[in-house]
Amino acid sequence: MASPRGEFRSRMGFILAAAGSAVGLGNIWGFPTQAASNGGAAFLLTYLLLAFVLAYPALMAELLIGRHTHRNMVMALGSLPQSRTLAALGRLTGMGGLLTASMILSFYAIVAGWMLGFAASYPLDAVGLTAASEWLVTFTVPRNLSLMLIFMALTMAVVLGGVEDGIERWSRRLMPLLIATLIALALYVLTLEGALTGLSIYLLPDFGKVLSSDLLIDALGSAFFSLSLGVGTMLIYGSYLSDTENVPRVGAQVALLDVGIAVLAGFLILPAMYVADARGVAIFNEAGGLLSEDTLIFTVLPALFETIDTAGIFLATAFFILMSIAALTSSISMLEVPVAYLIERHHLPRGKATLLAGGFIAGFSALVVLNFGTLFGAVITISTRYSQPLLGLLICIFAGWLWQRDALLQELRKNDADAENRLFWRIWPVYVKWLCPVIIGIILVQSVI
Ligand code: PFF
Repeated sequence: MASPRGEFRSRMGFILAAAGSAVGLGNIWGFPTQAASNGGAAFLLTYLLLAFVLAYPALMAELLIGRHTHRNMVMALGSLPQSRTLAALGRLTGMGGLLTASMILSFYAIVAGWMLGFAASYPLDAVGLTAASEWLVTFTVPRNLSLMLIFMALTMAVVLGGVEDGIERWSRRLMPLLIATLIALALYVLTLEGALTGLSIYLLPDFGKVLSSDLLIDALGSAFFSLSLGVGTMLIYGSYLSDTENVPRVGAQVALLDVGIAVLAGFLILPAMYVADARGVAIFNEAGGLLSEDTLIFTVLPALFETIDTAGIFLATAFFILMSIAALTSSISMLEVPVAYLIERHHLPRGKATLLAGGFIAGFSALVVLNFGTLFGAVITISTRYSQPLLGLLICIFAGWLWQRDALLQELRKNDADAENRLFWRIWPVYVKWLCPVIIGIILVQSVI
């Protein structure tokens, strides 16, 4: 039976929602080029290892705290420690998560708005509405503002529906569509000339590159961003998970899906870049590295689509719809963090909470649009480079040091009587207590320096 505060109806619903949060712009515009430039298959293996050895334990910390407390991040972290001072630190950490999730959403919504704009521009151009199509892809304040607002409205509409009828329903619809579109696009692009060169660059292992410590640290940072860790999205989704589910198992499935889709995206992006190369589009920067991130998505790929007549229109539209979906299933998880807090702590009805949190974030995002040069990069750096790892570190400390071992074991026993004999119980508590804080600490110090 669904609980009054909302509960995922099915295991699949949870897995798709949590994977939806994890699979976002990062997987598609960051991972493939990072892999190709840094040792190909060797990077893939290292990333996989890091994701499972370090990011997975942190993911489990969030999911388990959420499922145990069935509360939002602020109240959950405030309820774990016995002492009042530490409980206050817990609430403060929760607030930090809430603010960081809101900050990430404020820049994510701007970029996601561009994706919507590009998705609509190709069909509009095809039916002769050239001016409108041009407007949608040209960097101007009115365009950035309107598309951001449309994207925020979509996000709010889903969150307004609640856990089962909003988040779960839409994740169940959108995630299979995302995976199918990704596979179809990759299969098509692989038939074009030049694709196999891209594929070989993506997959040929070069272990020499992978062993650099800078790269390992970067890869770990991306694994954290990719799994949406530190800001309470996984914690709140975990809190909507039924006590009958085995958290270590579903958590592993979510991590596998996230990494799997990032790897799958490489089968589209790298071949597409080398098809573009074969058609005369520039794909390398001045330093000789592959173009990535926004230049890849908004310059290289559109230039490629233009060289492929009619099929190019379908390809481009499908690709930008894919990006918009990936962004939407992530943004709903970010908005749910403050919304759940307003509902549970301040007893607001979901409608009001969504309007308030969504309105506030859209307002901040508008501020970023209006001061793009100064604010956009700064907001990204503060939220993802510093705040996210720092909060991830604190969550590991809460799970490893401030949550009593017996209570933790009891949580795991809820659906697995034999939990203490599992590999998970032998390894995870030590990991989350020692290894995760140390490694995240190193990353943080490194990024500050
Ligand atoms: N995991 C998302 C991505 O890879 O694009 C980004 C993200 C989502 C970060 C949700 C943080 C978050 F709370």
